[in-house]
Amino acid sequence: FAEQPTVGERKQVDNVAHRGATGYAPENTIAAFDLAVEMKADYIEIDVQRSKDGELVLIHDTTVDRTTDGTGKVGDLTFEQLRSLDAGSWFGEQFEGEKIPTFDEILDRYHGKVGILVEMKSPELYPGIEEQVAEELKERNLDKPQNEKIIIQSFNFDSMKKMDKLLPKVPIGVLTSNRAHTTPEALQEFSTYADWFNPSYGIVTKELVNQVHSLGMQIGSWTVRSQEAADFLFEMGVDAIITDYPDYVDPRK
Ligand code: G3P
Ligand code: CA
Repeated sequence: FAEQPTVGERKQVDNVAHRGATGYAPENTIAAFDLAVEMKADYIEIDVQRSKDGELVLIHDTTVDRTTDGTGKVGDLTFEQLRSLDAGSWFGEQFEGEKIPTFDEILDRYHGKVGILVEMKSPELYPGIEEQVAEELKERNLDKPQNEKIIIQSFNFDSMKKMDKLLPKVPIGVLTSNRAHTTPEALQEFSTYADWFNPSYGIVTKELVNQVHSLGMQIGSWTVRSQEAADFLFEMGVDAIITDYPDYVDPRK
């Protein structure tokens, strides 16, 4: 394996702002993504779902209840209904008026400025969403990401196999917090279509990191909400740290 670049004594690790700089601003909003860029994150992580009338939108939960002033399932609400919601006030009154962003506006605003880790959230609820996401990336030439940092990931492995076929040049990631997915057999199967194996940090060991690397994949882990968790993942030798606090991953930022 090629020698890893280092910063001082430390290996270079991608700093991924989980749903934006979520420790400081409401997740999956422009406020959180702008702050992540300001804090010099290498990537923003986004959660993609779909409105009733087919618009790709960014929100984590499959309902709007926790992170907006509305109620109901994302897929039962029209884009107009979703867009009328306040996605900021729940986090702090200074964020009042933040909207649920669309996938296309976020691609246009950030591609080329910061990497984008696209999570397809519960794609089984949105038949055909794989083709739709692929189309948005192709329209912007982001399906040939030589100079652009784009990764697509999901907990839904069938969906990721499909994305690998639709976008063969775009790196694919699999997400899990299940130890059963860390066996040599499971990892070998992931490596047939995935470039990244992205586990929750509770199941990360140095041995797992080495196994993933020996199969030619990279490993990104989540979700860091303390300096101790970030330091643990540095120690384990992961390639990316997915964090609510970009400053824990690089305190100089
Ligand atoms: O990027 C990893 C992480 O986002 C997966 O979990 O629930 O925060 O989407 P979740
Ligand atoms: Ca996510």
